[in-house]
Amino acid sequence: MERTLILLKPDCMQRRLAGRILSRFEDKGFNIVAMKMLQVTPELAKKHYAEHVQKPFYPNLEKFITASPIIAAVIEGLEAVRVVREMLGPTSGLKAPSGTIRGDYSSSRQMNLVHASDGAETAAREIALYFKPEEIFSYAPTVSPWLKAADEF
Ligand code: PPS
Repeated sequence: MERTLILLKPDCMQRRLAGRILSRFEDKGFNIVAMKMLQVTPELAKKHYAEHVQKPFYPNLEKFITASPIIAAVIEGLEAVRVVREMLGPTSGLKAPSGTIRGDYSSSRQMNLVHASDGAETAAREIALYFKPEEIFSYAPTVSPWLKAADEF
């Protein structure tokens, strides 16, 4: 089992897409094991996007991510980091294929609706930025035996 962090970004919340996007992860069979609504501060934005702080686009990215409340969630499942990123599609909604979340709902590189961790180490770092260990819940949904064969766990 793997965990990854997703952020439903300000554009997602303002466009009332949070329910539809969370449903896609639930429909795929992933478990939502943590979730909260918050407004990202400039300090948190700089930690979250540490590798982009020096890039020319960072001021706009910080303005955007702090502009309105977001939902942070931890998604759990087999190969969650890779599969969730593939469900989002490439960064730019204009390049993302139809059938991906960004391909279906976004036409922008900045307003691309959802952030997802890009690797296992990043996921651990990002999850710790938003959640204390006691805010993450492990549970086995009753539907689990109908999502995969026993030897796929
Ligand atoms: S890069 O430069 O290739 O490493 O960037 P990328 O991985 O594609 O994107 C990292 C996050 O930065 C956002 N981004 C931008 N925001 C504003 N303006 C511009 N030009 C821009 N380019 C990239 C992008 O939406 C990514 O956000 P997350 O939250 O990680 O999806």
